[in-house]
Amino acid sequence: MGSRRAKAASPEIRVLADPEAVARAARDEVAHAILAAVGERGRCDLVLSGGSTPRRAHELLAAVELPWDRVHVFFGDERCVPPEHPDSNWHMARETLIQRARIPDANVHRIAGERDPEDAASDAENAIQEHFGLRPGDMPSFDLVLLGMGADGHTASLFPGTNALEESTRIVVANHVEKLGAWRVTMTFPVFEAAQRVLFLVTGPEKAAMVRSATVLRPGAATPPAGRVRPRGGSLVWLVDAAAATKLPTAPDGSGAPPAPSA
Ligand code: 6PG
Repeated sequence: MGSRRAKAASPEIRVLADPEAVARAARDEVAHAILAAVGERGRCDLVLSGGSTPRRAHELLAAVELPWDRVHVFFGDERCVPPEHPDSNWHMARETLIQRARIPDANVHRIAGERDPEDAASDAENAIQEHFGLRPGDMPSFDLVLLGMGADGHTASLFPGTNALEESTRIVVANHVEKLGAWRVTMTFPVFEAAQRVLFLVTGPEKAAMVRSATVLRPGAATPPAGRVRPRGGSLVWLVDAAAATKLPTAPDGSGAPPAPSA
């Protein structure tokens, strides 16, 4: 699959024709990561994103024959609602992927959105530390982190202007989001920076301006939360559809057109 190899400091951006093509590319990326991680160390530690964009990718992925019993699923964030609530990210993942792929319950590390946000964050953090055998202060290195982005540039539940943006040592924190008038529980930037690979799935014209702000670093320009996700040693790939790519700099050949969707 072609992709515009951007400068070393920037993410790899792949422009796909439409949301369905993004979902298919995401399916292939996740399947590859699972097979590689299980092949190398007998396990794949995967972080799922919330929101609606991943739904189709989950459905396609669930139909792929993979060593699902070796896959551990974590959540980049969770809304503070009960698990059966339609807004729950776990609920969406269970419906579109977990049940269909028959991922064992013991491998699904839900954030308890129904609990006090601070308690839910501490429990989720303890579960990750135990799973990875971490010493206090260490960061987990997930094999693959899926993320989305809102039109305001938030990712996971790292919203502009919220306290969690400044977190530099915790793995999971409670975060009050003024604009939503709600609490969320979210993984933090250090976790995403320690990942082997981060894959953003972003579609839709309403996100085009923010895709540019998040992927094209310009001196002096404010970087939105999604743009601050920069894996230190790992790789960063943005899968965007053509509608979300319209504001990206022109193709390398300077043709003036937005980057053409890859096959
Ligand atoms: C959440 C997600 C959030 C999401 C973006 C994009 O809990 O909502 O973690 O960061 O990825 O809001 O959402 P859509 O895919 O619905 O546009």
